[in-house]
Amino acid sequence: MKQKKALVTGVTGQDGSYLAELLLKKSYKVYGLERRASTKNRTNIAHIQDEINFLSGDLTDQTSLIRAVQESGADEVYNLASQSFVKASWEQPAYTGFVTGLGTTNVLEAIRTVNKRIKFYQASSSEMFGKVQETPQRESTPFYPRSPYGVAKLYAHWMTVNYRESYDIFACSGILFNHESPRRGLEFVTRKVTHAVASIALGFREKFELGNIDSKRDWGLARDFVEAMWMMLQYKKPDDFVIATGETHSVRDFLETAFKIVGIDVETNGGEGIYEKYRRKDNGKVVLDISPRYFRPAEVDFLIGDASKAKKILGWAPKVKFEELVRIMVEADLDILRKK
Ligand code: NAP
Ligand code: GDD
Repeated sequence: MKQKKALVTGVTGQDGSYLAELLLKKSYKVYGLERRASTKNRTNIAHIQDEINFLSGDLTDQTSLIRAVQESGADEVYNLASQSFVKASWEQPAYTGFVTGLGTTNVLEAIRTVNKRIKFYQASSSEMFGKVQETPQRESTPFYPRSPYGVAKLYAHWMTVNYRESYDIFACSGILFNHESPRRGLEFVTRKVTHAVASIALGFREKFELGNIDSKRDWGLARDFVEAMWMMLQYKKPDDFVIATGETHSVRDFLETAFKIVGIDVETNGGEGIYEKYRRKDNGKVVLDISPRYFRPAEVDFLIGDASKAKKILGWAPKVKFEELVRIMVEADLDILRKK
């Protein structure tokens, strides 16, 4: 049988690294789009970099994408690249629009130009639900994005749907809820917490800061979620799917669970907003302050997804739920820090 070829944009990111692993395991020839940087950022893919065929390109550069699609001869293109940090999207709203929004159009145009039979996966996001209009959120729930990032993703989502309907391209949009791992960037709340809690447990630091700890997310494991991306492109027809665990937890739950895992008893002073603190019960020292620095101009307060369509049609279900996810991440950070 002919070896399948896949092009992954965002291959150096959290999801790109897990997807590349999955595709290699399935004997794909994997091409990864990589931006030029003064210092290479291959930490997440260091263990598989010799098996990936790197192509230089940027989502904002149409020519580079046409060349990448042509040179790879890809059967499947997974568009995972984006400016993915919601908080940064208020500081760089236009840039986020260029990369996360228009960048997707550039990839779709490259496919339309080079070969319309290429299958396309778009990394859409539960951030598109934003100020939620229905609970739990499913494919038919109306969108209400609450950040420049959410707006850019919604544009990209509709462009994906439109290229499917206008040009008959096999284009799928995976509406993924938050998914995490030890490869998550340190600026995202889960990894920020597990890294800080592990540092406190090992005596490397005393405390850290967070913003709104009462927002709730449906958090899953990245390795489970990338499998759904691949499954969407193997199904007989292109469609959009919500991918989620169906459970929601607050940042506060995540924080308290992480401290429990390392065996540190903590308690809140019960203060409101920035007046709240968490202290260790053993010595009374503050371990967490709430800082206005980490609050956002608008918040997505609550997300919980209904992935029953993906379960019914693709046979996808998450393997890892909340407690195990926190444990995996805390233990990985303890390991990393012990080695340091
Ligand atoms: P991530 O770790 O931040 O990775 C983003 C990737 O995009 C990196 O490889 C980055 O490359 C690349 N990139 C950024 N700007 C680019 C540009 N202009 N041209 C080419 N590549 C560029 O994100 P992730 O968590 O893996 O998420 C993957 C995708 O799913 C993203 O589109 C994200 O928005 C979306 N998503 C994520 C979640 C989640 O919970 N993780 C949920 C829903 C949707 P560098 O290494 O060069 O920076
Ligand atoms: N990052 C961060 N840092 N978030 C904090 C902090 C903090 O210090 N304190 C509280 N939070 C809250 C945020 O206000 C938000 O409500 C929640 O923690 C989660 O924030 P992030 O981890 O930054 O993720 P996100 O939900 O905004 O976005 C992620 O998930 C989306 C899917 O819903 C990203 O991966 C997006 O790319 C993805 O589309």
